[in-house]
Amino acid sequence: MCGIFGIITNQGNISLGKVVLEGIKRLEYRGYDSCGIVSLSNSKLYIKKDSGKIEEIQKKINLADIPNDSKLALAHTRWATHGRPTRINSHPHLDCSNKIAVVHNGIIENFLELRKNLSQKGHLFKSETDTEVIPHLIEDKMEEGFNFKDSVVEALKSCSGAYGLAVCHVDYPESIIVVRKESPLVIGIEEGKTTYLASDIPAFLPLTRKCYIMEDDELAVLKAGEVDFYDLNNNKKIEKEIQVIKWNIDAAEKGGYEHFMLKEIYEQPTAIKNTMKISKDLLKSFANTLWSAENIYITAAGTSYYASLAGKFIISKFLGKYISPIECSEFQTQLSNSLKSDSVIIAVSQSGETIDTVEAIRWAKTKKNVKVLTITNVVGSTLTRYSDKVIVTQAGPEIGVAATKTYSTQVLTLALIALEIAKLRKVESESEIEKYEIALRATPQIIENFLKNNVDLIKDIVETLEQSAQFFFLARGISIATAKEGGLKLKEVACRFIEGYSAAHAKHGPISLVREGFPIIFIAPPDETYQRLIGNIMEFKARGGKIISLIVENDKTVLELSDITIKIPQPGDKYHNIFSPITFTPALQLLAYYTSLHHGLDPDKPLNLSKTVTVH
Ligand code: F6R
Repeated sequence: MCGIFGIITNQGNISLGKVVLEGIKRLEYRGYDSCGIVSLSNSKLYIKKDSGKIEEIQKKINLADIPNDSKLALAHTRWATHGRPTRINSHPHLDCSNKIAVVHNGIIENFLELRKNLSQKGHLFKSETDTEVIPHLIEDKMEEGFNFKDSVVEALKSCSGAYGLAVCHVDYPESIIVVRKESPLVIGIEEGKTTYLASDIPAFLPLTRKCYIMEDDELAVLKAGEVDFYDLNNNKKIEKEIQVIKWNIDAAEKGGYEHFMLKEIYEQPTAIKNTMKISKDLLKSFANTLWSAENIYITAAGTSYYASLAGKFIISKFLGKYISPIECSEFQTQLSNSLKSDSVIIAVSQSGETIDTVEAIRWAKTKKNVKVLTITNVVGSTLTRYSDKVIVTQAGPEIGVAATKTYSTQVLTLALIALEIAKLRKVESESEIEKYEIALRATPQIIENFLKNNVDLIKDIVETLEQSAQFFFLARGISIATAKEGGLKLKEVACRFIEGYSAAHAKHGPISLVREGFPIIFIAPPDETYQRLIGNIMEFKARGGKIISLIVENDKTVLELSDITIKIPQPGDKYHNIFSPITFTPALQLLAYYTSLHHGLDPDKPLNLSKTVTVH
């Protein structure tokens, strides 16, 4: 969702406009539809803003053109919630006196009521946004006699909702006030010289590795090269430790690939190998908690939810207990009267910031004895704070909006937990478990070989499907998760309405769409559902469907039934069907990627999407 980048410096040799523009550009991946920059010089605010992508806006107005003597600037990319993406609705938003500028991520839920009260007091509003109430509230508090910082504290007392925000004031040119409540904000620092703020670390990583991670209900006063932190609830000063970011900016740059999405698809073998190094003790403690649990749920959103569907299938196989999957946004509604106090909940989230997942878990934790086991890719993310145990997948930063490498590392992590459960329960012999472990260790090699040898085939399939704006991915058993994830990727980056569905269930309705040449992609690992899947393939073939199948290398049966096959390497006893969500999904990611390019789209910037969804 929206992105914030800001800087305050005492250095004369910094080209502020360039730094700010580059900083906010590094947050483009979060998804946005407008951009704005405010700077301050000579007791005046200078605003540049418009709707559209940064590149388009640059052609009309130079966002980086800010006064030479300016030492402070805030930039914002907006993902429209309240009000259409227009210039007026773009951030920053100002008060009546044009002295206070605010950029804001999140939503002020009671803005209508606040706006009504402020209007009655004579405040004039220009936009349709919820954000605009904030500068007016601060203005009001300043008129009551509070200083800049305390006005922000007082103003926010009347706001409900989630926010990460930054405020500047022409009469306080030496400071920026920043507040975090449920919307991530990080502060970067070059001590004594320059301070940065951003909604995500990659925005300032080329400039400094030293940072402070803000927690909920914290306020920071940023000065050039120094920061003071306060607890928003009592306005008392707090101490925070500087963290040094260890990962390299290369990890957040394209490294020669045309897009982040492609780079991240190709990073999967490494991401998986790194994630395999997760501490055995931690995996065991997850396994123990699940083994002793009566009721187990798994919750997540989007791709993380599909990873959960695949993972819960693998865990249940060894655990011998059903794990109920529930989309995070439905969690509280569906379990309001039935969540037992001794339940264990597995929460899966790449960002650890998805508001619906965080809220589901926060609610669940109000029940005594509920335990939360979290799998995330981001250390210290909000979700981790409400969790009893946390595994951090080692996918590295994922910048592409469409999740790829985090999906495979999430499934892998759940599979690793499953194998620890198998060892604990001794449901399989040691030699059987070893076979699973060998197969899991072979997944990076299988993916690497596939990606090396199949790009031309995938591009040919993209051309074959050129005219097909709708088709199905069909599967049975564990592969339904793969089919759903494949469908989601095509919807996201290629704007095609492709549905991932149960092959058996497709007879109960969707099959009526099938005409001569209608493409159906079957996910067909030779697992326990294979024979029945062949029956489903026949049904669709009989109706003229064009059969494209994802099979393992030596599958002659489905090969003969198919018009086109995509073959997943099957290195002898090193392949296992139960891990097919890991080895088969990259083919569908690649299909989505090249379909996106074929239709002239930018796979890194899907329309209307955001990397981190921080609104309900
Ligand atoms: C799809 C995608 C989204 C996310 C979803 C959850 O490619 O990226 O569907 O999976 O928004 O996000 P996290 O995993 O951060 O909770």
